[in-house]
Amino acid sequence: MTADTIAINQQMDQFDGHHSVWLFGYGSLIYKADFPYLERRPASIANWTRRFWQGSHDHRGTPDAPGRVVTIIEEAGAICHGMAYLITPEVFAHLDHREKNGYLRLAIAIAFEEGDSVEGLVYIATPDNTAFLGAASEQEIARHIARSAGPSGPNSDYLNHLASALRELGRHDQHVFEIERHLAALKD
Ligand code: SIN
Repeated sequence: MTADTIAINQQMDQFDGHHSVWLFGYGSLIYKADFPYLERRPASIANWTRRFWQGSHDHRGTPDAPGRVVTIIEEAGAICHGMAYLITPEVFAHLDHREKNGYLRLAIAIAFEEGDSVEGLVYIATPDNTAFLGAASEQEIARHIARSAGPSGPNSDYLNHLASALRELGRHDQHVFEIERHLAALKD
């Protein structure tokens, strides 16, 4: 699948006619909400895990030297914590552009911290998109992040902002915190 997902996402009609839709964010969408929203609530999705396995050509790297950003990978029993936003459908034009490097909108069950749940959307970069990089050890990922930068800034900022945002949410993410630890060690 092409890495430019704007046209595919525009055809997604599952929530047509809805006045508002819940969007689940698990990466930069947790800490950088550069879009209007009606409400924001800590939430999680079940059977998915966050991984720095997606290449970034347009934000934290370039097409020749992609950075590494997160996507979600199916894993039975896993819980991925993040932030859910209630948005109006007009906001998708901005989000589709921001997430255009391989991310598709997917309908998903979102569980709020308070215990209620809702059907909403998440942006996911699946292994069949051409920017997907796949698995590597946390140490290799840290080295990759350390040398990468793109139009949105250093790749290390993406990792550090995400790790801080997860701490603020009171959530431990072994994969993210392990990469953060390796990255800090590279500077010593
Ligand atoms: C997300 O944050 O939900 C998607 C991945 C990203 O934009 O970092």
